[in-house]
Amino acid sequence: MFDHAALRAQFPILKLTENGHPLTYLDNASTSQKPLSVIQAVEDYYSTQNANVHRGVYGLSERGTDAFETVRKKVQAFVNAKSYKEIIFVRGATEGVNLVAQSWGRHFLKAGDQVIVSEMEHHSNLVPWQMLREQIGIEVIKWPINERGELSLEDLAGLLNERTKLVAVTQMSNALGTINPIKQIVEMAHQAGAKVLVDGAQSTSHIKVDVQALDVDFLVFSGHKLYAPTGIGCLYAKQALLEAMPPYMGGGDMIYKVSFEQTEYNELPYKFEAGTPNIAGVIGLGAALDFINQLGFERIAQIEEELLHYATERLSQIEGLRIIGTAATKGAVVSFVIEGAHPHDLATLLDQDGVAVRASHHCAMPVMLKFNVPATVRASFGVYNNRDDIDRLVASIHEALDMLR
Ligand SMILES: Cc1ncc(COP(=O)(O)O)c(C=O)c1O
Repeated sequence: MFDHAALRAQFPILKLTENGHPLTYLDNASTSQKPLSVIQAVEDYYSTQNANVHRGVYGLSERGTDAFETVRKKVQAFVNAKSYKEIIFVRGATEGVNLVAQSWGRHFLKAGDQVIVSEMEHHSNLVPWQMLREQIGIEVIKWPINERGELSLEDLAGLLNERTKLVAVTQMSNALGTINPIKQIVEMAHQAGAKVLVDGAQSTSHIKVDVQALDVDFLVFSGHKLYAPTGIGCLYAKQALLEAMPPYMGGGDMIYKVSFEQTEYNELPYKFEAGTPNIAGVIGLGAALDFINQLGFERIAQIEEELLHYATERLSQIEGLRIIGTAATKGAVVSFVIEGAHPHDLATLLDQDGVAVRASHHCAMPVMLKFNVPATVRASFGVYNNRDDIDRLVASIHEALDMLR
């Protein structure tokens, strides 16, 4: 028997009370809570290892550099990249997309080239392409979603043409929960001569992502959504692409030799890592990957699918509640609106009962426009959530509706 209570006990924050109630944390799509092993890894780093990396010849710095580079290899294994050189540490998914847009996009795209962006993208995988449109005149083409919040491969076939240079798509939608068929998308895009950037911000904590099996060109993700600290994330890109791309930012560590006349850039992956990195964040990310690996994606799927099923069933019984995002393949996210209750009012009342959900456009305003709602309430689940959390959510919604209606 799997001891779920022991898993939950690894997360100290879940012992908190909010407004006199146990904290019911259901905002995992925004950020996940951190297990003790991650918190301790960061504390140990600052207590016993702190020194800058890649610079000192003294023991402390060398040990820190080893620990830092070990995590890069862990990330390489986590996404099954061919080489550690393909793993670039960034602040998060947002910085990863901006790096690709400003380095690869600005260098290799020209006016009239097309970037297909799905309608369900987080703003961080849309706005950087719009910025590039302003800078060099590319076209940003919308790949629409249907009324269930799904993308159609037939629609993609109709959009791909010789001017398409990139398809930018999320593997899992934060606003809808939809999981997209990345392998087929990549095959189709590659046949049309386009590259694919996958936003793994949501998917990497729920699904095993294998960049070689999927053959993706770029993958971005954020540590803080997979039980690691904030301010650290990764860009994976095929080595040949990274070799050809110019640096994104200039500064220390990304250079090999500098004079006023000429600068030689460092080799991969350091060419893309200017300045002192988030070393503690990287160490914490390593501990988070250990946590996920120990648990295993099979167990994660089992826990989260059960929660998704139970939450969908219980929430669907609430009168006037409409689930936004009913894709056939979904991750553990339930977005909804309720007749007669504004999402923000609802979330504020839920907070009185210690229930933390997100009420907003979820940084996916085009999705809200598509479903003609200003915002939704979103309950999103992590491995530590249980049925009691969902029962508390549902009970609290009933109480709130009694007040609001
Ligand atoms: C699907 C998706 N992409 C990108 C991001 C941006 O991640 P970050 O803010 O960590 O850079 C998020 C965050 O909510 C997300 O859910």
